[in-house]
Amino acid sequence: MLAQPMKDESAEIIVNRPEVGLYHLLMLRAPGIAPLVAPGQFVHLRIWPCADALLRRPFSVYRVEGDCLSILYKVVGKGTAALARMPPGEHVAALGPLGHGFSLPCAGGGMPILVAGGYGVAALYLLAERSPVRGILFQGGRRKEDILCEPDFRALGWEVRVATEDGSWGTRGLVTDLLREELRSGGRGAKLYACGPTGMLRAVAQLAEEYGLPAELSLDERMCCGMGVCLTCVVPVRTDTGWEYQRACTEGPVFDARQLLWEVPS
Ligand SMILES: Cc1cc2nc3c(=O)[nH]c(=O)nc-3n(C[C@H](O)[C@H](O)[C@H](O)COP(=O)(O)OP(=O)(O)OC[C@H]3O[C@@H](n4cnc5c(N)ncnc54)[C@H](O)[C@@H]3O)c2cc1C
Ligand code: FES
Repeated sequence: MLAQPMKDESAEIIVNRPEVGLYHLLMLRAPGIAPLVAPGQFVHLRIWPCADALLRRPFSVYRVEGDCLSILYKVVGKGTAALARMPPGEHVAALGPLGHGFSLPCAGGGMPILVAGGYGVAALYLLAERSPVRGILFQGGRRKEDILCEPDFRALGWEVRVATEDGSWGTRGLVTDLLREELRSGGRGAKLYACGPTGMLRAVAQLAEEYGLPAELSLDERMCCGMGVCLTCVVPVRTDTGWEYQRACTEGPVFDARQLLWEVPS
């Protein structure tokens, strides 16, 4: 494992506001972390007002602006609910940047295709911003409220195609159905980059294999320490000699799709 720079700092909340539905935007002043963040990396936040504040919560870094970084979070439980109640001026303990992120597409290389489910889009924004080549973002969710940051990607010059399961925005159906159509029509995509729920990632991995495309997938595993110590987050990964467990928090969260086994071999 490569040693990587990592900081633990008390980060001031600059913005913490509802965006749409259960999603919120949090901007933190984190001068030790923000300049070091690479696309696909995450921060591990200790949310002091939460009853089990000792357990940090992982969030992908969505944007970086100078000394500040932002995350997009969905309120799903006690940690994120406590975070949503914290006003600007308060502090969270931020550890990061953590994890192994996405590799940047090559200038002059083929077109990148990004695939996002729900808040997974947050892990892909920096990649889209820093990529020397523009491509297509396929974005999916249950309903319109799950489609985040669509205008931000368009403003960067990316084409965006949306699918919602209830048909309230974009095409009705799964985002991977839209992706399949693109690949079947002989689309220009050269490599896939995805972040979202496990079912979506498995479908992207299958499509990548079917169409002979490389793919990098960011896994959303439950994490405890976030630093490679506790082994809460291990996933089975193919190796030259068989398979082994690797830690989603350090060797991941981004893995080459061809490496992932999804289930422990019997
Ligand atoms: C690398 C990584 C990046 C992430 N990035 C984001 C992000 O950008 N935005 C965002 O909103 N969330 C993100 N998550 C998920 C986020 O960490 C959890 O939603 C959060 O920890 C829940 O904390 P809680 O105390 O509110 O929920 P808890 O009270 O701990 O749990 C409430 C519910 O949330 C579910 N949950 C908890 N952790 C996860 C998880 N890792 N994945 C899926 N469901 C979970 C539980 O199963 C339970 O149903 C990321 C997770 C990882 C591992
Ligand atoms: S979360 Fe502890 S090893 Fe990954």
